[in-house]
This record gives sequence, structure tokens and C-alpha cells, in this order.
Amino acid sequence: MTNIINGRQIAKQLNQETKTRVDKLKEEGIIPGIAVILVGDNPASVIYTRNKQKTAEKLGMKSILRKFPKDVSQAEVLQAIHHYNDDPTIHAILIQLPLPKHLNQTELIEAISPEKDVDGFDSKNVGKLYNNEDGHYPVSCTARGIMTLLHSYLDKIEGKNVTIIGRSILVSRPLQSLLINENATVTMVSLHTDDIDYYTKHADILVVAAGTPNLIKKDQVKPGATVIDVGINRMANHHLVGDVDFNSVKEVAENITPVPGGVGPMTIATLMQQTVDLAEWNK
Ligand code: GUN
Repeated sequence: MTNIINGRQIAKQLNQETKTRVDKLKEEGIIPGIAVILVGDNPASVIYTRNKQKTAEKLGMKSILRKFPKDVSQAEVLQAIHHYNDDPTIHAILIQLPLPKHLNQTELIEAISPEKDVDGFDSKNVGKLYNNEDGHYPVSCTARGIMTLLHSYLDKIEGKNVTIIGRSILVSRPLQSLLINENATVTMVSLHTDDIDYYTKHADILVVAAGTPNLIKKDQVKPGATVIDVGINRMANHHLVGDVDFNSVKEVAENITPVPGGVGPMTIATLMQQTVDLAEWNK
């Protein structure tokens, strides 16, 4: 029997736990606060940031959405980041990506105080994850959300063969580190890899973050595998589909995420979780 991994349900449970933690912090006089910076009017980014703000408010957190026109200067965005770095009511800062090409994304991310870097994209936090350091630090919300899904459906990750298709800095690389830190054997492949099927067929856990609709078919997947689809592709008919051909792959997988309703809801729930983490760690 195939389990359809219910990201919406797990995100809801996580949000309930986060709400309990917010209420507890409030008793201590602390309201966790997140500032989201949005540049321009990319339709997907507008929807994501609105959902982030709505969820934060629903959980009783302070939420600021700072919008800039798409021709804003680097200096103006930097000034906003410095402002929130200095604001003690803000515990988490997120710059919605992608940014317009004229902005220097690296400089902006590095300007966020590492203690408020809720995406975990700052090189100091990336380095701590890479080195598997003890202690508290934020990591990519999508990658951490995927780990939460895996822990909900699998007894253990140690010793599993994991193949990740994609090498992104936002998801695949931090996920690779999180999995290695839990003693998985991780292979990173891309569309440049010769014989991708060799790697997908040996995977106990297959993570697909390639950005290609319906790329992975049933005959490329090991029977009994857990398949995590990070893709969100909007088709000409406006339907959302993942990078995995869900209908065929669900015949062989033991656990599989749907699109929508799999990884997507976990990113925002993990963002909320991590905002509260930052408020607790830095109080
Ligand atoms: N755009 C798409 N996903 C993300 C994310 O996880 N963080 C940020 N900052 N921007 C994104």
C-alpha cells in the first residue's frame, strides 16, 4: 500500500506546536516577529509572501511585509535590512527570492544578522550546517521541512541510500548536509549526469528538485522507495504538477509526496517554526 505523504496535515500539526510555543513566549512578554522583504511584483512571490504573512498572524506572531518597487536600489534594501537587524521586536528576516538582476543577492543575504537569518542562507549558518556543528542555527526551511516529512514516515534515515536530483543552494545542498549529518549515503545528481537512472533506481529515498515537469517515471524508481517531489510547475492549463509523474510512480513507491500538498505546505510551517526558534534562542 502506498502512503501519500500528507504535507498539509503535518504542516498543520507543526503550526499547532508553533502556536503553543508562541503563546508561551507571550507569557514572557516576547512576541516572535518576522520581517519579509519583497522586491517587485513576481506573481508567485506575491502569493508566497502573502501566505507567509497570513500564517504568521494566525499563529499570533508579529509580521511585517516590506515591499519595494522592482527598480529599488541596493542601498535602499540594505538600509531596510540594517533597520530590522537593529529592531529588537524582529527575530527573523527573509528576503523573498528571486530578486531582480540588478541587485546583489549575496551582499543582501550576508547583510542579515546571522541570528535573524531565518532562511539559513547566510554563509555563517551554511558553514555550521556543513560542519555539523553543535548548537542552534537556522537552516533552509524547505530542506528542514523535507526532513520533518521523512521523519514522519520513516523509522530511520541512517544507512539509507538517498539520491537528490538538483544542486540548488536553496534546497538540495542544505538537504544533502542534513541527510549526511544523519548518516545517510547521499548522491547528488543533475541533468548533466550520465545515466541518471542508475542513481534513481538505487535510491531508498529519491528527492527530485529539478524544475522539470513529470521528469521521473515509474521505471526509474526502486520499488518501495520514498519519493519526495520538490517541483512546482504551472502548466499551460494552470494546473500545478511536480517533477515526478505522480500517477505512475505511486504504483511502485512506498511513500510519495503529492503536488500540491506535499513539500509546499512544509516550507511555510517550517519558516514559522524557525522564527520561533530564533526568538527563543536569542531572547
Ligand atoms: N523563494 C522560493 N523559496 C524561497 C525560500 O525558501 N526562501 C526565500 N527567501 N525565497 C524563496
